[in-house]
Amino acid sequence: MTSKNRKILVTSALPYANGPIHLGHLLEYIQTDIWVRFQKMRGHETYYVCADDAHGTPIMLKAQQLEITPEAMIEQVRAEHMADFADFHIEFDNYHSTHSEENRVFAEEIYNRLNAKGHIKTRTISQLFDPEKQMFLPDRFVKGTCPKCKSEDQNGDNCDNCGETYSPTDLINPVSVVSGATPVLKDSEHYFFDLPAFEQMLKDWTRSGSLQEEMANKLAEWFDSGLKQWDISRDAPYFGFEIPNAPDKFFYVWLDAPIGYMGSFKNLCDKRGINFDEFWQKDSTAELYHFIGKDIIYFHSLFWPAMLSGADFRQPTSVYAHGFVTVNGRKMSKSKGTFIKGRTYLDHLNPEFLRYYFAAKLTSRIDDLDLNLEDFAQRVNSDLVGKVVNIASRCASFISKKYDGMLSSNIDDQALADEVMNAGDSIADLYEKREFGRAMREIMALADKVNEYIAVKEPWQLIKEDGKQQEVQDICSLGINLFRILMIYLKPVLPELAGKTAAFLNDELIWEGHKTLLVGHKVNKFKALLQRVEMDKVNAMLDDSKDNLTATVDTAVQPTTGPLITDPIADEISFDDFAKVDLRIAKIIVAEHVEKANKLLRIEVDLGGETRQIFAGIKSAYQPEDLIGKLTVVVANLAPRKMRFGMSEGMIIAAGPGGKDIFILNPDEGAVPGQRVM
Ligand code: MSP
Ligand code: ZN
Repeated sequence: MTSKNRKILVTSALPYANGPIHLGHLLEYIQTDIWVRFQKMRGHETYYVCADDAHGTPIMLKAQQLEITPEAMIEQVRAEHMADFADFHIEFDNYHSTHSEENRVFAEEIYNRLNAKGHIKTRTISQLFDPEKQMFLPDRFVKGTCPKCKSEDQNGDNCDNCGETYSPTDLINPVSVVSGATPVLKDSEHYFFDLPAFEQMLKDWTRSGSLQEEMANKLAEWFDSGLKQWDISRDAPYFGFEIPNAPDKFFYVWLDAPIGYMGSFKNLCDKRGINFDEFWQKDSTAELYHFIGKDIIYFHSLFWPAMLSGADFRQPTSVYAHGFVTVNGRKMSKSKGTFIKGRTYLDHLNPEFLRYYFAAKLTSRIDDLDLNLEDFAQRVNSDLVGKVVNIASRCASFISKKYDGMLSSNIDDQALADEVMNAGDSIADLYEKREFGRAMREIMALADKVNEYIAVKEPWQLIKEDGKQQEVQDICSLGINLFRILMIYLKPVLPELAGKTAAFLNDELIWEGHKTLLVGHKVNKFKALLQRVEMDKVNAMLDDSKDNLTATVDTAVQPTTGPLITDPIADEISFDDFAKVDLRIAKIIVAEHVEKANKLLRIEVDLGGETRQIFAGIKSAYQPEDLIGKLTVVVANLAPRKMRFGMSEGMIIAAGPGGKDIFILNPDEGAVPGQRVM
């Protein structure tokens, strides 16, 4: 067994409950999952918990838009998130919600303890208020003209045009994004967490923890510019927890979000009989790690340790931040089809390809990570298929056909075997330090050596010669053994492939197994382990991710941009490009729900004698029965697209901000199906 038995609690950031999991998110969950699987393989008592982050204004407004309760919405999104994570082999010990009883209890307890020690202050502030909606407006729900460069339609907190940051009250001609009304200033008493009181504590924590260098630098900057009190209250209406003894005041979502780590863990402890206090009490010797993205460092390295300290809980052992995923060198973009949802990826590609690619590019630093799709296909094919699995496919058929699945008792090349077996410690060290890219390179270098050994020995030639039967068995047995050890090293990254390998080898692939070889051991019949990545499938995934007009349903609800805010305009096209679009009047003759599809309706249209099937994402706005008999405009010459539910042979033109407000364009009564629109 490895060193001492550690107790480790690990978290990933809690995804917002109003949008789908996308490939950017997945970097974090895959990084954390690999690290957790590694720790568990090494025999440490490790728990990995997460939850949906279910509170806040965007979630409240989105539920209103969908005309369902926030509770119903967050339950549905949580189920979708859990299914996505499971299919990427992210193995949480518990996946909870911040809208839970456990979390309410901890949020109140932490607040009460902070309050009792005088760390909560109140102050009246003046904020923009929507007189129509009767609610205060968070920054990103206000738009207006930039006070500096005067460009119109800018966000409430910063200008896309000139980069200026400001407060929403500085905007010229502000409007509420929620109702379109002109906001007014209104006073309200707010509750503040006294962060400056924790400056010394935070400095000590920074020095004692194993923080990343970049994070420590960032913190030093923040200390230099001075810590500020943090506004932790929001006025009703708000979807969240009420603040004790403060009528109509709610905890700001970021107050109870990190407490959700405790809530989820408590829920797990109750189910499994784990001692909660052992992990969270002040002098705990258990380790606590939060994996997060670089955008939320402030919350995790300042507010969170300070809150924990003020409420007499332990501080995190460390907070590990990663960079952002870009696709083909650019920020993920809906209009370019590079905003790829986890589900869309899964519709086309093997989840382990992404796990491997991310692992191969991950470091312990906060650098951004580019998912270059050509490189992705090439790297996966060359490393996993061409190097690792290739070893097994070259050796396995001889063993099963000629030797009845029996591995030899001789070790053909002890030096090579030793080299692969002895790499275990240094690979483990790289996993521990989150240097996954270096670990993958080390494993692939070993795979190269094994392939070279087989290439030099040429068992496929030897098998034809008399008296070489034993030698062939020895060579192929060593090949399979070394493949086994490489798969032990890769198991945290590729659990499914490791599972198939274990079944083939009759061996559990435990970490300590890297120190031994299987001799005189019977293996099972070899089945193909992995298919190559085909660029066709990658392209089909991009196609499925492409924005179309009806996809503004998603655009409108991304937590990063906030509800109702539309996407930037896509790249310019020439008139000739536009003229290629064949717009036709169509009559809707069939419209029905699609099982398991959240947004899609299956529609059949009459194009003047020709019937087409189209899947359209307009379910949030239309009941199918209301569409039948309506005239609409379709793109008639769009290449048919295979979707999860069938072929889509065109596109229905619809417009609107999303949710219930999507409108099918309804041509005049006089229009005839099949007629060209222009
Ligand atoms: N709800 C908060 C976290 C609360 S934790 C107490 C939140 N949610 S999120 O859904 O926006 O993001 C969840 C995690 O995914 C964050 O760590 C975030 O940094 C990460 N990522 C979101 N988009 C990302 C990329 N494009 N690339 C890499 N990570 C990204 O923030
Ligand atoms: Zn500006």
